[in-house]
Amino acid sequence: MIKPFPVDEGVMQSIRPMQFRDARRVAELHHAAMGTSLWSMLGLRFLQTLYQALVDSPYFIGFVYVEDGRVRGFIAGSLDTSKMYQDIGRRRFMFLGPTAALGLLRHPGVSLKLIETYRYFGVSGADDVPGESLFCSFEPDLRGKRVSGHINKVLFDELLARGHRAVKITTEVSNEGANRQLQSWGFGDAHRFRFYGKDMVTYVLELAGHPRLEARSRHPAV
Ligand SMILES: CC(C)(COP(=O)(O)OP(=O)(O)OC[C@H]1O[C@@H](n2cnc3c(N)ncnc32)[C@H](O)[C@@H]1OP(=O)(O)O)[C@@H](O)C(=O)NCCC(=O)NCCS
Repeated sequence: MIKPFPVDEGVMQSIRPMQFRDARRVAELHHAAMGTSLWSMLGLRFLQTLYQALVDSPYFIGFVYVEDGRVRGFIAGSLDTSKMYQDIGRRRFMFLGPTAALGLLRHPGVSLKLIETYRYFGVSGADDVPGESLFCSFEPDLRGKRVSGHINKVLFDELLARGHRAVKITTEVSNEGANRQLQSWGFGDAHRFRFYGKDMVTYVLELAGHPRLEARSRHPAV
């Protein structure tokens, strides 16, 4: 049974769409919390360039949580992840290429992970669900306080309003905070696979009629 989600209007007012100027701070939060992720291992400079490219993509939906003018958490989502990476690869390669090369020079071992990345879309499952939450991270003292629960709600409400019937999230089986949060929202364990030498799980959540979301849609069903 999914518990009702008590919305704190103060927290909601501190959440806004991610902008180009947030890329550096979001990259720092990503790097600090997900240091072993491929994108992190390519370095802070690459991560910043990646988020600058993402906020500019029509397939990207991102939000940040701001306190006293400082970004303290974020969520990065997509309307269609594979189309989004193709889009930024095409339009922003001249920026992403050199910063990725710099990261590879510093950590040559990452090249194996980079090669493995190409098979991600073939093994991560839930191909019939284009909408996805890719990365979410909050400063440690803000965790366990439902603040990130609010930014989830904002992203899921936006996907629902754009006609998406479901959303998927892939995380490591060992990531306690992420698994607990996704289960508390009622995500179903849709698929398990090994990637980058780790046990991964893909969760799917039906958005239509979800008790924590606003039942409004501006677009035909996706
Ligand atoms: C993953 C992450 C965003 C989860 O956020 P969080 O702050 O723990 O989430 P919430 O505060 O919304 O808590 C989620 C649920 O767990 C419950 N919960 C949180 N902390 C708890 C605790 N210590 N004990 C028991 N329950 C707890 C909450 O009550 C909430 O339940 P609810 O949705 O029914 O209200 C956060 O842990 C994080 O930033 N981690 C680092 C980055 C990361 O690993 N990101 C995920 C991979 S992309």
